[in-house]
Amino acid sequence: MMNSLDNWSAAFLPAIDAEMRAVLGADDPSRSASPFYGMIHYHMGWVNDQMRPIESNGGKRIRPVLCLLACAAAGGDWELAVPAAAAIEILHNFSLVHDDIQDNSPTRRGRPTLWTLQGQPQAINTGDAMFAMAHLALNRLTQHGVPPAVVVRALRRFDETCIALTEGQYTDMSFETRSAVTVDEYIAMITGKTAVLIALAAELGSLVARADDQRIHAFADYGLNMGLAFQVQDDILGIWGDEVLTGKSAATDITTRKKTLPVLYALSKSQQLRELYDGEESGQEFVRRTVEILDETGARQFAGDAAERYTNMAIAGLSAAQPVEPGAGALRNLTATLLRRDF
Ligand code: IPE
Ligand code: IPE
Ligand code: MG
Ligand code: MG
Repeated sequence: MMNSLDNWSAAFLPAIDAEMRAVLGADDPSRSASPFYGMIHYHMGWVNDQMRPIESNGGKRIRPVLCLLACAAAGGDWELAVPAAAAIEILHNFSLVHDDIQDNSPTRRGRPTLWTLQGQPQAINTGDAMFAMAHLALNRLTQHGVPPAVVVRALRRFDETCIALTEGQYTDMSFETRSAVTVDEYIAMITGKTAVLIALAAELGSLVARADDQRIHAFADYGLNMGLAFQVQDDILGIWGDEVLTGKSAATDITTRKKTLPVLYALSKSQQLRELYDGEESGQEFVRRTVEILDETGARQFAGDAAERYTNMAIAGLSAAQPVEPGAGALRNLTATLLRRDF
């Protein structure tokens, strides 16, 4: 029965959503009527800008699905890990609210970003609230009978991951004004901003399943490589993706001079791009010329190969975690599917 990724997702997604809605007060009338909570619910994709409920538009949910699958593949009962999955997804969403300000991004998931509607000061405050709520979400593991020592360990790893994530964001922003960035520096940066949280999803799933430390580390390693592949693919979609499918602008990574992997590669190959990036331009013509050079240098292929390499490393490393069926097959499927995504 539970053999395919689709079957697992069909069981997981309503449970994840219900848990997040409980933590974020979406079904509590006194909270859902409040404009403060309304800003959270808008970002989560549950209401429109008039605070009217809409069909959910909350993103791919890959982190919480990975967390629950890792729990099942580590031999655990996935339902016990739902609070951890919800906590990770809320933390991810907190990071997006702040990231959209940091990156000057106008759209996310096909809608105006929170800061463009409510202003940066209010969006910062909303993110702060969601950061705290993510911790409360993780605390709810205790209500599922997860032993306090396990919950404390999960909370410690959660906070360590938050620090690594914000350090990754620091580095990402600092690279905007740096012309020379090495591939090693780039990998360290995306490890922080993206991969550690995806690694944590797999780690906490297996921790709640009470896997031994060696297996927990193997699940985390697997998630880390998957996260690296995921960010490289995000870099590719941020340039060549269809905005209708990604729901994000295909220009802002270039106009903000993000040192994404395709750009790093093309900078190493093209003096013309180095001069362009050293200049002051940032309009449509700048974006058009940049993409032209990226195409000429084969930057897309280079990044695509890197994403594939990290995906293969993730799948190869998964065996060290000794995943059990039926979750193991779905994990491999999820990893391979993410490489081929176009949104
Ligand atoms: C976007 O993450 C930010 C990155 C780390 C690349 P996702 O692509 O998982 O975003 P949603 O949640 O599906 O919208
Ligand atoms: C997202 O990085 C990482 C975090 C939000 C921590 P990006 O800035 O590359 O992701 P998108 O493309 O805006 O979703
Ligand atoms: Mg960013
Ligand atoms: Mg961004």
